[in-house]
Amino acid sequence: MSEARIRDLTELDIDGITRIDERITGKYRPQVWEQRVVYYIRRDPDAPKVAERDGKVVGFVLGEVRGGEFGLDEPTGWLEFFGVDPSARGSGVGRRLTEALLAHFRSRGAKITRTMVAERDREIDAFLRAMGFTPAPLTALERAL
Ligand SMILES: CC(C)(COP(=O)(O)OP(=O)(O)OC[C@H]1O[C@@H](n2cnc3c(N)ncnc32)[C@H](O)[C@@H]1OP(=O)(O)O)[C@@H](O)C(=O)NCCC(=O)NCCS
Repeated sequence: MSEARIRDLTELDIDGITRIDERITGKYRPQVWEQRVVYYIRRDPDAPKVAERDGKVVGFVLGEVRGGEFGLDEPTGWLEFFGVDPSARGSGVGRRLTEALLAHFRSRGAKITRTMVAERDREIDAFLRAMGFTPAPLTALERAL
């Protein structure tokens, strides 16, 4: 099996990402991923990345640099969506995708990357900690509508 190649995301990757999401969540959501992919490419085409192996998309990561939200003035790299096809896990694809996005955030002047993880998502939490993320001095609040 050849090593996955990390490259910039294009709109042609929507199908591949939709398929990975379907394998992770059991839901087929082509419109959702089309909207997201178009959004991130418009915001910053050099930020979102995919991993491709033997011509097939096996992983993706979406995020962007923003600043000023939540009273946090400094430019922040927001890591927002990622997934690796179950058949391609455990060989560093998620790490390489994340490092590629974070390197881009750095090149855009960000000094910090932030993300959020649901308490029930223990595996994602463990992955993020393995990637060097630590609990932030922030409180997530919500109110039902
Ligand atoms: C989390 C995920 C991205 C990991 O991808 P991967 O390619 O298998 O990860 P890597 O092989 O690059 O692992 C990187 C590090 O994370 C750790 N890690 C990965 N998955 C882990 C898990 N489930 N539990 C504990 N640690 C984990 C690895 O041990 C590795 O640590 P090391 O480098 O110190 O040994 C993948 O399992 C996935 O897509 N999960 C579903 C994500 C999801 O639900 N996304 C929707 C919300 S946006």
